[in-house]
Amino acid sequence: MSRKGLAPGEPHVLVVKVGGGLLSDKRTGGGTSSSAIDDFAALLDDLVTAYPGRVVLVTGGGSLCHTVGVGVNEKGDPFSAVALTEPAFAMKWAWTAALRARGVRAVPLQVAAMAWEDTAGEVVANTAVVRRVLAEGALPVLSSDFIVTAAGTLRILSSDYVPGILVHEQFAPVRIVTLADVPGILTGTELDSPVLPHVDLDDLAQAESLIWPTGEWDATGAMAGKVAALAEHARRGAECLITRGDQRAPSLRYLFDPLSCWPSSIPRTVIARRQSAPLAPID
Ligand SMILES: Nc1ncnc2c1ncn2[C@@H]1O[C@H](COP(=O)(O)OP(=O)(O)OP(=O)(O)O)[C@@H](O)[C@H]1O
Ligand SMILES: [Mg+2]
Repeated sequence: MSRKGLAPGEPHVLVVKVGGGLLSDKRTGGGTSSSAIDDFAALLDDLVTAYPGRVVLVTGGGSLCHTVGVGVNEKGDPFSAVALTEPAFAMKWAWTAALRARGVRAVPLQVAAMAWEDTAGEVVANTAVVRRVLAEGALPVLSSDFIVTAAGTLRILSSDYVPGILVHEQFAPVRIVTLADVPGILTGTELDSPVLPHVDLDDLAQAESLIWPTGEWDATGAMAGKVAALAEHARRGAECLITRGDQRAPSLRYLFDPLSCWPSSIPRTVIARRQSAPLAPID
């Protein structure tokens, strides 16, 4: 969809997921860094000032939420995922407080109250409140949550899947940027290995083969879960990226730039349908 006033390749709505790995160490169960939240809040303040009503924040859970998530036993207690409410809201509130302290009109919203699973197993949502909040130039703050399944039980909707509720004509074109503690999908096992520039939606096995084994401290599949979620969003039309989050970055405004204008110094993995080459004119 093209929208009036947008440069070619510029998203209308940008969903920024700040990965929990940037806020805490899940392996050790360490606490959430309030200074990291504060630094990213300053960057988001600037971004919302430049693009009011066009940014949605999704906060990752880090050890705060994964510790609870790994304990969710869907078979034993079909409602145990409700336990995620407390840490997920604590995380949303930490962001909201830091953003409001800077004057950002941040509004924490519970995904569980706007999204559910339909009988085909698809996540559907009523995003009217998100749209109203954006229309006021404010910043919706979302996180992982439980959702009600078609079977009437509860399950976790991870923060990598949450942006999917915004992949809709009403917000299009949508870009989803997941800021992580890695610069994208690394093609080797070292942190300075080259980054896979593009995930082929017709050959996910290539990206999956690069994924390292994950510890039991992760409730949502770490990078494997992220790739699966972003591939789903990309198939539905979103432009998705994984790149490193830097709390000391001078600005996040480049996140709205057409990808062709991104600084080459910023590695990233793009998960999106490749733009098809223009058809040759018929003589
Ligand atoms: N090939 C790979 N390249 C890069 N990271 C990988 C790869 N395979 C596995 N990983 C792991 O995936 C992690 C990123 O996913 P993770 O779920 O931990 O982050 P997050 O989604 O930002 O955090 P949260 O789930 O708390 O929001 C990396 O820190 C790394 O340990
Ligand atoms: Mg994760």
